[in-house]
Amino acid sequence: MTTSPRLLVVGKTGQVASALAYRLADDTFFKSALFGRPDLDLANTETIKPFLDAQMPDAILNAAAYTDVDGAETNEDEANAINHAGPAKIAEWCNETGAPFLHLSTDCVFDGSKDGGYLETDAPNPVSVYGRTKADGETAVASAAPKHLIVRVSWVHSQFGKSFPRTMLNLAKTRDTVSVVCDQFGRPTHALDLASGLITMAQTCLEPTFSDWGTYHLAGQGHVDRASMAEAVFEDSALFSGPTASVEHVSSQAFGAPAQRPLNSKLDSPRAAAVFGLRLPDWRNSLTDSVRAITQETDVV
Ligand SMILES: NC(=O)c1ccc[n+]([C@@H]2O[C@H](COP(=O)([O-])OP(=O)(O)OC[C@H]3O[C@@H](n4cnc5c(N)ncnc54)[C@H](OP(=O)(O)O)[C@@H]3O)[C@@H](O)[C@H]2O)c1
Repeated sequence: MTTSPRLLVVGKTGQVASALAYRLADDTFFKSALFGRPDLDLANTETIKPFLDAQMPDAILNAAAYTDVDGAETNEDEANAINHAGPAKIAEWCNETGAPFLHLSTDCVFDGSKDGGYLETDAPNPVSVYGRTKADGETAVASAAPKHLIVRVSWVHSQFGKSFPRTMLNLAKTRDTVSVVCDQFGRPTHALDLASGLITMAQTCLEPTFSDWGTYHLAGQGHVDRASMAEAVFEDSALFSGPTASVEHVSSQAFGAPAQRPLNSKLDSPRAAAVFGLRLPDWRNSLTDSVRAITQETDVV
């Protein structure tokens, strides 16, 4: 390709989309553009093809989704439209034009009953409506667009948008103690590390010889439970003179969220390492970057 390839990112204001915008601003390989509602609405499926026909990107990265895990339990139609029907339309367009489709998915496609980390070869078995709509989206994308990279991510945090550290820090402004589940385990992943990895994947898959299409996991190293992650947020916050609170460890059952989450959300990412040379940093250091940025509301490191 002599001119810069055009990368279209679906999503503009979300956590991962914001991190992608930040990283793409310095990227010299792609000419990129991010689109969210109202310009591109995944729930309005008949508008997707005309919109993409007008843009004619060389690759598409979908960072938009219905992400309210509890809300999906009572809004299944909307969640299904955004997480399944919309991405299926994009995949059809990609199949017609030959553009690669990078589509983000989630640890919530798994039931969490496995002992070790989840591999791409493990069978999905979602335990929530959100997880089901995302799993159905994966299946639709994979069957419609042979040139797809489905990238499952988990426990994303950053200074952008809504994130676990920001929620904890906001709660600590008005409470001495916060209750956090202690039986859900995952690999926290900084959105900016993830964004850099996704851009590498998008660039690599445009190489004419690339053939490693399929499903990937992309998560930070190490693992932690949610309550201990909250304690780490407050440890870091204290370093930056931010709000702190003590953490009450509670079981998922006692916490009683409307949607069930997998108790084991640990995604192993050996395929992304082997094919793209990606190994995202350990969660503990990257969490400090998020907490520093949120407490100081400065630019990112
Ligand atoms: N955050 C995590 O911990 C996590 C974990 C596992 C998987 N993921 C996956 O990672 C991806 C990105 O998640 P995120 O954390 O960045 O989510 P997020 O912060 O909740 O952002 C979701 C984005 O989707 C957009 N969106 C929602 N409905 C839309 C529609 N009908 N049409 C177009 N855009 C729409 C939102 O735009 P508006 O501003 O218009 O609402 C927002 O920009 C998703 O696929 C999610 O399933 C995230």
